[in-house]
Amino acid sequence: MENNIRCIGILTSGGDCPGLNAAIRAVAKTVVRKGVGIVGILDGFTGLVRNRVMHLGPNELSGLLTQGGTILGTSRNKPHKMPLPDGSYQNMTGAAIENYKRLGLDCLVCLGGGGTQKNAYRLMRDGELNIVTLPKTIDNDIWGTDVSFGFDTGMSIACEAIDRLHTTASSHHRIMIVDVMGHNTGWLALSAGIAGGADVILIPELPFKIERVLDALVERRKKGKRFSIIVVAEGAKPYSSEEGMDEEEKSKKKKKKDVNFFPHKIPSSEKLATIIETEIGIETRVTTLGYLQRGGIPTPTDRIIATRLGTKAGECILNHQFGVMIAVRGSEVVPVPLEEIAGKKKYVPADHSLIETANKVGVSLGI
Ligand code: F6P
Repeated sequence: MENNIRCIGILTSGGDCPGLNAAIRAVAKTVVRKGVGIVGILDGFTGLVRNRVMHLGPNELSGLLTQGGTILGTSRNKPHKMPLPDGSYQNMTGAAIENYKRLGLDCLVCLGGGGTQKNAYRLMRDGELNIVTLPKTIDNDIWGTDVSFGFDTGMSIACEAIDRLHTTASSHHRIMIVDVMGHNTGWLALSAGIAGGADVILIPELPFKIERVLDALVERRKKGKRFSIIVVAEGAKPYSSEEGMDEEEKSKKKKKKDVNFFPHKIPSSEKLATIIETEIGIETRVTTLGYLQRGGIPTPTDRIIATRLGTKAGECILNHQFGVMIAVRGSEVVPVPLEEIAGKKKYVPADHSLIETANKVGVSLGI
Protein backbone atom coordinates (compact mmCIF):
# COMPACT_ATOMS: atom_id res chain seq x y z
CA MET A 1 0.00 0.00 0.00
CA GLU A 2 1.72 3.20 -1.13
CA ASN A 3 -0.84 6.03 -1.09
CA ASN A 4 -2.22 9.10 0.66
CA ILE A 5 1.06 10.36 2.08
CA ARG A 6 1.45 13.93 0.85
CA CYS A 7 3.75 15.57 3.32
CA ILE A 8 6.05 14.54 6.16
CA GLY A 9 8.00 16.54 8.75
CA ILE A 10 11.53 15.69 9.94
CA LEU A 11 13.20 16.89 13.12
CA THR A 12 16.46 16.14 14.93
CA SER A 13 16.47 16.30 18.71
CA GLY A 14 19.01 15.84 21.54
CA GLY A 15 22.78 16.10 21.14
CA ASP A 16 23.99 16.30 17.54
CA CYS A 17 26.01 13.43 16.10
CA PRO A 18 27.57 12.36 12.81
CA GLY A 19 25.10 10.63 10.50
CA LEU A 20 22.05 12.82 11.17
CA ASN A 21 22.22 14.52 7.77
CA ALA A 22 22.85 11.20 6.04
CA ALA A 23 19.69 9.84 7.69
CA ILE A 24 17.61 12.92 6.73
CA ARG A 25 18.81 12.48 3.14
CA ALA A 26 17.91 8.78 3.11
CA VAL A 27 14.36 9.32 4.40
CA ALA A 28 13.88 12.16 1.93
CA LYS A 29 15.24 10.30 -1.10
CA THR A 30 12.96 7.34 -0.39
CA VAL A 31 9.72 9.32 -0.12
CA VAL A 32 10.36 12.17 -2.58
CA ARG A 33 10.31 9.79 -5.52
CA LYS A 34 6.74 8.95 -4.53
CA GLY A 35 5.76 12.61 -4.70
CA VAL A 36 5.86 13.28 -0.95
CA GLY A 37 6.72 16.81 0.23
CA ILE A 38 9.11 17.33 3.14
CA VAL A 39 9.14 19.99 5.83
CA GLY A 40 12.26 20.40 7.97
CA ILE A 41 11.38 21.31 11.56
CA LEU A 42 14.05 23.47 13.17
CA ASP A 43 15.84 22.90 16.48
CA GLY A 44 14.12 19.71 17.56
CA PHE A 45 10.74 19.84 19.27
CA THR A 46 11.18 23.59 19.75
CA GLY A 47 10.47 24.11 16.06
CA LEU A 48 7.33 22.01 16.25
CA VAL A 49 6.02 23.91 19.26
CA ARG A 50 6.91 27.34 17.81
CA ASN A 51 6.13 26.46 14.18
CA ARG A 52 9.66 27.17 12.93
CA VAL A 53 10.28 25.22 9.77
CA MET A 54 12.27 25.14 6.53
CA HIS A 55 11.49 23.71 3.14
CA LEU A 56 13.54 20.63 2.26
CA GLY A 57 13.81 20.60 -1.51
CA PRO A 58 16.48 19.22 -3.86
CA ASN A 59 18.90 22.07 -3.08
CA GLU A 60 18.69 21.68 0.67
CA LEU A 61 18.96 17.90 0.42
CA SER A 62 22.02 17.92 -1.76
CA GLY A 63 25.51 17.16 -0.41
CA LEU A 64 24.29 15.88 2.96
CA LEU A 65 25.77 12.39 3.09
CA THR A 66 29.11 13.36 4.58
CA GLN A 67 28.11 16.48 6.51
CA GLY A 68 28.41 16.33 10.31
CA GLY A 69 25.90 17.92 12.72
CA THR A 70 22.36 18.52 11.55
CA ILE A 71 21.17 21.02 8.94
CA LEU A 72 17.92 21.31 10.93
CA GLY A 73 19.54 22.37 14.20
CA THR A 74 18.71 20.60 17.44
CA SER A 75 17.81 21.15 21.08
CA ARG A 76 17.07 19.08 24.15
CA ASN A 77 13.64 20.68 24.67
CA LYS A 78 10.56 18.53 25.13
CA PRO A 79 7.01 19.57 24.12
CA HIS A 80 5.62 18.81 27.61
CA LYS A 81 8.33 20.86 29.35
CA MET A 82 9.31 23.87 27.27
CA PRO A 83 11.56 26.38 29.02
CA LEU A 84 10.26 29.94 29.31
CA PRO A 85 12.44 33.08 29.55
CA ASP A 86 11.66 33.44 33.29
CA GLY A 87 13.20 30.02 33.96
CA SER A 88 9.89 28.20 34.42
CA TYR A 89 8.49 25.47 32.17
CA GLN A 90 5.26 25.09 30.25
CA ASN A 91 3.52 22.07 28.80
CA MET A 92 3.20 22.93 25.11
CA THR A 93 2.12 19.52 23.81
CA GLY A 94 -1.10 21.13 22.50
CA ALA A 95 0.87 23.61 20.37
CA ALA A 96 3.01 20.79 18.95
CA ILE A 97 -0.07 18.79 17.97
CA GLU A 98 -1.76 21.84 16.49
CA ASN A 99 1.31 22.69 14.37
CA TYR A 100 1.59 19.12 13.11
CA LYS A 101 -1.96 19.52 11.82
CA ARG A 102 -1.48 23.09 10.54
CA LEU A 103 1.55 21.95 8.51
CA GLY A 104 -0.59 19.22 6.96
CA LEU A 105 1.80 16.46 8.04
CA ASP A 106 0.90 12.84 7.44
CA CYS A 107 3.86 11.70 9.52
CA LEU A 108 6.57 13.18 11.73
CA VAL A 109 10.02 11.58 11.64
CA CYS A 110 12.03 12.17 14.83
CA LEU A 111 15.77 11.46 14.83
CA GLY A 112 17.18 11.26 18.32
CA GLY A 113 18.42 9.38 21.36
CA GLY A 114 16.61 7.80 24.28
CA GLY A 115 14.96 11.06 25.40
CA THR A 116 13.67 11.69 21.88
CA GLN A 117 12.15 8.20 21.67
CA LYS A 118 10.26 8.94 24.88
CA ASN A 119 9.10 12.39 23.78
CA ALA A 120 8.06 11.11 20.36
CA TYR A 121 6.07 8.33 22.02
CA ARG A 122 4.28 10.84 24.28
CA LEU A 123 3.33 12.97 21.26
CA MET A 124 2.10 9.95 19.37
CA ARG A 125 0.00 8.86 22.34
CA ASP A 126 -1.35 12.28 23.37
CA GLY A 127 -2.00 13.65 19.88
CA GLU A 128 -2.67 10.42 18.03
CA LEU A 129 0.02 11.50 15.56
CA ASN A 130 1.75 9.33 12.99
CA ILE A 131 5.35 9.06 14.12
CA VAL A 132 8.42 7.15 12.98
CA THR A 133 11.74 7.51 14.80
CA LEU A 134 15.40 6.72 14.13
CA PRO A 135 18.03 5.94 16.80
CA LYS A 136 21.01 8.31 16.86
CA THR A 137 23.67 8.81 19.51
CA ILE A 138 27.38 8.34 20.01
CA ASP A 139 26.50 6.66 23.34
CA ASN A 140 24.87 3.57 21.75
CA ASP A 141 22.51 3.37 24.73
CA ILE A 142 19.15 3.22 22.93
CA TRP A 143 17.15 0.21 23.93
CA GLY A 144 15.83 -2.03 21.17
CA THR A 145 18.57 -1.53 18.58
CA ASP A 146 21.93 -3.26 18.35
CA VAL A 147 23.53 0.01 17.36
CA SER A 148 22.70 3.66 16.74
CA PHE A 149 24.28 5.83 14.06
CA GLY A 150 26.93 8.17 15.45
CA PHE A 151 28.44 5.48 17.65
CA ASP A 152 30.97 4.22 15.14
CA THR A 153 32.25 7.74 14.48
CA GLY A 154 32.45 8.61 18.19
CA MET A 155 34.28 5.37 18.87
CA SER A 156 36.71 5.90 15.98
CA ILE A 157 37.56 9.40 17.19
CA ALA A 158 38.12 8.16 20.75
CA CYS A 159 40.24 5.28 19.45
CA GLU A 160 42.38 7.57 17.36
CA ALA A 161 42.89 9.81 20.40
CA ILE A 162 44.03 6.79 22.44
CA ASP A 163 46.42 5.78 19.65
CA ARG A 164 47.91 9.27 19.66
CA LEU A 165 48.17 9.43 23.45
CA HIS A 166 50.21 6.22 23.43
CA THR A 167 53.23 8.05 22.03
CA THR A 168 53.46 10.62 24.83
CA ALA A 169 52.56 8.00 27.44
CA SER A 170 55.37 5.79 26.24
CA SER A 171 57.97 8.53 25.65
CA HIS A 172 57.41 10.15 29.06
CA HIS A 173 56.68 6.91 30.95
CA ARG A 174 53.40 8.37 32.12
CA ILE A 175 49.93 7.23 32.89
CA MET A 176 47.41 8.81 30.52
CA ILE A 177 43.79 9.05 31.54
CA VAL A 178 41.36 9.56 28.65
CA ASP A 179 37.88 10.83 29.49
CA VAL A 180 35.33 9.46 27.05
CA MET A 181 31.64 10.44 26.70
CA GLY A 182 28.79 7.96 26.91
CA HIS A 183 26.41 9.56 29.44
CA ASN A 184 25.78 6.83 32.01
CA THR A 185 26.63 3.82 29.90
CA GLY A 186 30.02 2.39 28.99
CA TRP A 187 29.64 1.30 25.34
CA LEU A 188 31.85 4.03 23.95
CA ALA A 189 34.60 3.72 26.56
CA LEU A 190 34.65 -0.06 26.45
CA SER A 191 34.74 -0.29 22.66
CA ALA A 192 37.24 2.52 22.12
CA GLY A 193 39.33 1.21 25.02
CA ILE A 194 39.54 -2.30 23.61
CA ALA A 195 40.22 -0.99 20.09
CA GLY A 196 42.89 1.38 21.40
CA GLY A 197 44.62 -1.19 23.62
CA ALA A 198 43.82 0.54 26.93
CA ASP A 199 45.23 -1.07 30.07
CA VAL A 200 42.37 -0.02 32.36
CA ILE A 201 38.78 0.76 31.32
CA LEU A 202 36.29 2.15 33.83
CA ILE A 203 32.58 2.12 32.95
CA PRO A 204 29.44 3.15 34.89
CA GLU A 205 27.93 -0.34 34.85
CA LEU A 206 30.88 -1.79 36.80
CA PRO A 207 31.67 0.47 39.77
CA PHE A 208 35.43 0.29 40.22
CA LYS A 209 37.62 -0.18 43.28
CA ILE A 210 40.46 2.31 43.35
CA GLU A 211 42.78 -0.31 44.90
CA ARG A 212 42.19 -2.59 41.91
CA VAL A 213 43.08 0.22 39.51
CA LEU A 214 46.27 0.94 41.46
CA ASP A 215 47.12 -2.78 41.58
CA ALA A 216 46.80 -3.05 37.80
CA LEU A 217 49.08 -0.05 37.27
CA VAL A 218 51.71 -1.31 39.72
CA GLU A 219 51.55 -4.77 38.16
CA ARG A 220 52.32 -3.30 34.74
CA ARG A 221 55.33 -1.44 36.15
CA LYS A 222 56.58 -4.68 37.69
CA LYS A 223 56.39 -6.30 34.27
CA GLY A 224 58.59 -3.56 32.86
CA LYS A 225 55.81 -1.59 31.17
CA ARG A 226 56.62 2.01 31.86
CA PHE A 227 53.34 3.59 30.78
CA SER A 228 49.63 2.88 31.03
CA ILE A 229 46.46 4.13 29.40
CA ILE A 230 43.25 4.41 31.41
CA VAL A 231 39.97 5.03 29.60
CA VAL A 232 37.28 6.49 31.85
CA ALA A 233 33.65 6.70 30.77
CA GLU A 234 32.05 9.97 31.87
CA GLY A 235 29.58 8.17 34.15
CA ALA A 236 32.14 5.80 35.74
CA LYS A 237 31.89 5.70 39.49
CA PRO A 238 33.78 4.08 42.32
CA TYR A 239 32.33 1.12 44.11
CA SER A 240 30.85 2.09 47.42
CA SER A 241 30.05 -0.20 50.27
CA GLU A 242 26.44 0.98 49.68
CA GLU A 243 26.22 -0.95 46.40
CA GLY A 244 23.12 -3.13 46.35
CA MET A 245 21.71 -1.64 49.59
CA ASP A 246 18.18 -0.34 49.83
CA GLU A 247 17.48 3.26 50.95
CA GLU A 248 16.91 2.29 54.61
CA GLU A 249 20.24 0.48 54.83
CA LYS A 250 21.97 3.41 53.15
CA SER A 251 20.65 5.96 55.63
CA LYS A 252 21.52 3.71 58.60
CA LYS A 253 25.00 3.46 57.20
CA LYS A 254 25.32 7.23 56.78
CA LYS A 255 24.40 7.73 60.43
CA LYS A 256 27.16 5.31 61.46
CA LYS A 257 29.65 7.30 59.34
CA ASP A 258 31.31 4.18 57.97
CA VAL A 259 35.02 4.90 57.69
CA ASN A 260 35.41 2.48 54.78
CA PHE A 261 33.02 4.45 52.59
CA PHE A 262 34.99 5.72 49.64
CA PRO A 263 35.07 9.52 50.04
CA HIS A 264 35.25 10.44 46.35
CA LYS A 265 31.69 9.80 45.34
CA ILE A 266 32.10 10.45 41.66
CA PRO A 267 35.77 11.25 41.21
CA SER A 268 36.60 13.28 38.19
CA SER A 269 39.52 11.98 36.19
CA GLU A 270 41.58 14.81 37.69
CA LYS A 271 40.90 13.38 41.14
CA LEU A 272 41.77 9.92 39.91
CA ALA A 273 45.06 11.29 38.56
CA THR A 274 45.85 12.88 41.93
CA ILE A 275 45.12 9.64 43.75
CA ILE A 276 47.39 7.69 41.37
CA GLU A 277 50.25 10.18 41.69
CA THR A 278 49.94 10.29 45.49
CA GLU A 279 49.54 6.57 46.03
CA ILE A 280 52.01 5.10 43.53
CA GLY A 281 54.06 8.10 42.45
CA ILE A 282 53.67 7.82 38.69
CA GLU A 283 53.23 11.02 36.69
CA THR A 284 49.66 11.08 35.37
CA ARG A 285 47.91 13.33 32.84
CA VAL A 286 44.26 13.69 31.84
CA THR A 287 42.79 14.31 28.38
CA THR A 288 39.08 14.99 28.05
CA LEU A 289 37.81 14.31 24.54
CA GLY A 290 34.42 15.99 25.07
CA TYR A 291 32.54 17.24 22.02
CA LEU A 292 35.32 16.26 19.62
CA GLN A 293 33.71 12.82 19.70
CA ARG A 294 30.47 14.16 18.21
CA GLY A 295 32.05 16.39 15.63
CA GLY A 296 32.89 16.14 11.95
CA ILE A 297 32.07 13.74 9.18
CA PRO A 298 30.49 10.34 9.81
CA THR A 299 32.53 7.19 9.21
CA PRO A 300 31.50 5.03 6.23
CA THR A 301 29.90 2.57 8.68
CA ASP A 302 27.73 5.35 10.17
CA ARG A 303 26.80 6.58 6.69
CA ILE A 304 25.63 3.08 5.82
CA ILE A 305 23.68 2.60 9.07
CA ALA A 306 22.04 6.03 8.73
CA THR A 307 21.16 5.32 5.09
CA ARG A 308 19.74 1.87 5.81
CA LEU A 309 17.67 3.12 8.74
CA GLY A 310 16.51 6.22 6.86
CA THR A 311 15.41 4.33 3.77
CA LYS A 312 13.57 1.78 5.92
CA ALA A 313 11.82 4.66 7.71
CA GLY A 314 10.76 6.02 4.31
CA GLU A 315 9.45 2.60 3.32
CA CYS A 316 7.45 2.29 6.57
CA ILE A 317 5.93 5.74 6.01
CA LEU A 318 4.87 4.85 2.47
CA ASN A 319 3.36 1.65 3.86
CA HIS A 320 1.52 3.55 6.60
CA GLN A 321 3.46 1.74 9.29
CA PHE A 322 3.66 4.28 12.11
CA GLY A 323 4.46 4.32 15.83
CA VAL A 324 7.79 2.56 15.29
CA MET A 325 11.52 3.12 15.74
CA ILE A 326 13.66 1.63 12.99
CA ALA A 327 16.23 -0.59 14.68
CA VAL A 328 19.29 -2.58 13.68
CA ARG A 329 18.82 -6.23 14.66
CA GLY A 330 21.64 -8.47 13.51
CA SER A 331 21.95 -8.01 9.76
CA GLU A 332 18.43 -6.58 9.41
CA VAL A 333 16.82 -3.18 9.91
CA VAL A 334 13.37 -3.61 11.39
CA PRO A 335 10.53 -1.46 12.78
CA VAL A 336 10.03 -1.88 16.54
CA PRO A 337 6.94 -0.47 18.34
CA LEU A 338 7.84 2.80 20.06
CA GLU A 339 5.92 1.83 23.17
CA GLU A 340 8.39 -1.04 23.69
CA ILE A 341 11.30 1.40 23.62
CA ALA A 342 10.13 4.58 25.34
CA GLY A 343 11.66 5.08 28.77
CA LYS A 344 14.22 2.26 28.54
CA LYS A 345 18.00 2.43 28.32
CA LYS A 346 20.52 -0.10 27.03
CA TYR A 347 23.31 -0.67 29.55
CA VAL A 348 26.38 -2.86 29.11
CA PRO A 349 25.37 -6.18 30.74
CA ALA A 350 27.99 -7.61 33.11
CA ASP A 351 28.12 -10.77 30.99
CA HIS A 352 28.51 -8.96 27.66
CA SER A 353 31.10 -10.39 25.29
CA LEU A 354 33.00 -7.07 25.26
CA ILE A 355 33.60 -7.46 29.01
CA GLU A 356 34.77 -11.03 28.48
CA THR A 357 37.01 -9.87 25.63
CA ALA A 358 38.52 -7.13 27.78
CA ASN A 359 39.20 -9.65 30.54
CA LYS A 360 40.82 -12.11 28.16
CA VAL A 361 43.29 -9.56 26.84
CA GLY A 362 44.23 -8.53 30.38
CA VAL A 363 42.42 -5.18 30.58
CA SER A 364 41.63 -4.20 34.16
CA LEU A 365 38.05 -3.04 34.66
CA GLY A 366 38.90 -1.95 38.20
CA ILE A 367 36.71 -4.63 39.77
O1 F6P B 1 24.24 11.81 24.30
C1 F6P B 1 25.38 12.28 23.70
C2 F6P B 1 26.23 13.05 24.68
O2 F6P B 1 27.33 13.55 23.98
C3 F6P B 1 26.64 12.28 25.92
O3 F6P B 1 27.72 11.42 25.67
C4 F6P B 1 26.92 13.40 26.88
O4 F6P B 1 26.72 12.96 28.21
C5 F6P B 1 25.90 14.42 26.51
O5 F6P B 1 25.50 14.14 25.19
C6 F6P B 1 26.36 15.85 26.58
O6 F6P B 1 25.26 16.66 26.35
P1 F6P B 1 25.25 18.21 25.98
O7 F6P B 1 25.48 18.34 24.51
O8 F6P B 1 23.88 18.65 26.34
O9 F6P B 1 26.33 18.85 26.78
